[in-house]
Amino acid sequence: MTRAARRLLLSVFCLAFGIGPNLPAAQEAFTLEGHGGPVKGISARADGAILTASFDNSVGLWRDGVPTWLEGHEAAVNAVVPVAGGRVVSGGDDYSVRLWDPQDGSMRELGRHSAKVIRLAVSPDGLRVASASWDRTVRLWSLEGGAPVELAGHANTVSDVAFSADGAQVYTASADGTIRLWDAHTGEFLRRLVQHGFGINALLVARDDSWLAYGAVDGGTRVVALPEATEMGDFTADRRPILAMAHQPDIGRIAVGDAQGYIMMIDTGAWRIAEDFRATASGPVWALAFSPDGQNLHAGGIADAMYSWPTNGLDDATQMTGTERSFLKDPEEMSNGERQFQRKCSICHTLEPDGKRRAGPSLHGLFGRPAGSIAGYAYSPTLAEAQIVWSEETIDLLFDLGPDHYIPGSKMPMQRITKAQDREDLISFLQTATIPD
Ligand code: HEC
Repeated sequence: MTRAARRLLLSVFCLAFGIGPNLPAAQEAFTLEGHGGPVKGISARADGAILTASFDNSVGLWRDGVPTWLEGHEAAVNAVVPVAGGRVVSGGDDYSVRLWDPQDGSMRELGRHSAKVIRLAVSPDGLRVASASWDRTVRLWSLEGGAPVELAGHANTVSDVAFSADGAQVYTASADGTIRLWDAHTGEFLRRLVQHGFGINALLVARDDSWLAYGAVDGGTRVVALPEATEMGDFTADRRPILAMAHQPDIGRIAVGDAQGYIMMIDTGAWRIAEDFRATASGPVWALAFSPDGQNLHAGGIADAMYSWPTNGLDDATQMTGTERSFLKDPEEMSNGERQFQRKCSICHTLEPDGKRRAGPSLHGLFGRPAGSIAGYAYSPTLAEAQIVWSEETIDLLFDLGPDHYIPGSKMPMQRITKAQDREDLISFLQTATIPD
């Protein structure tokens, strides 16, 4: 499980507020660094621990800024939630829903969907988990095991899910533009609550089921009163699409993150926009969670770090900074080979020897290296046993045929580079960029 180059950097940007005898402890902005890919899902646990799900295939469980890595997913992890008994459930692009017990290091697959799992919700008793999937279903898993209850009927991918306050019902949001209500025990479809003209990406429900808020692809950000779903508020800004939402009842705030890098805070007492700030100069905000006391807001985007800001100091918040890769660098400045690498490989591979945390092994010293030979990287058995030495010819074959045909059974995602010139340019870029010093 342990990889040599684990790095922890808890950087404290600022001590934002003065400390007086009757004031609560000063809240700080901080980052959690260690992931080797964007942070796609965040949950805050009641005991103060933070859970992060990342594109680097791993889940981070952070206590006082120190990570424990939960590794086993075969692709990006999109969602993670805390469940009963100090355990954790995650779901990702490998279609699986997994239950982890960080105390004894065990992991068990609760089951699978037939497409990626994008969001998770936990029942109020912490004993059931709902997984929303691109296979158009939600499945309700008991932590005890057994077959899931399936909620089927959406006409497009399901994007978000929430339990009712008593755990008896489940709300689902879909790219088909609807929000639906289901029986959490039988899986029976009860009724359609919302019909929005565009796909809905995010959903949240008040702790007492008195209202529901949602965000959509067209930027639509609305609140409706339950049970009739009558309109209560429209906070649609001129931005789209909405990607993430979080709610903190104690401080009366909803946070809304969008693809243009803004976070808008809605005051749920006065039902007005309290703050609106640019959290990142480039890229989306696709994960949001409040700390249990509501003093901090945690956010994830393109950066490999999770950012956290005091909720009462958002005006001064330091922006999330992107990572030197692909979509952020000016493509005009790169050769075609470098551009191929940045766009198609860099999210999973580094070129440096110390191999920062990524889903794939470092490509440093690649040419002449036998396949599956980097010590400490958890290769698939197929690649570890493959009799391949990496060279111009074998790398060319890998992407001409695609990993699924060249090394069937490898963890490397299906991907072909069909143009011979692109493969040639990529290989000549790698030949210089991976040379050991
Ligand atoms: C989404 C993640 C991902 C992307 C994108 C990706 N790879 Fe990989 N790559 C992996 C994983 C995971 C492995 C390990 C596979 C295994 O163990 O079966 C791997 C293995 C490899 C290997 C074998 C390394 C060794 O030590 O044997 C090479 C070579 C490689 N990748 C090159 C590339 C190149 C070049 C690109 C871009 C064109 C690329 N990969 C894109 C995830 C990725």
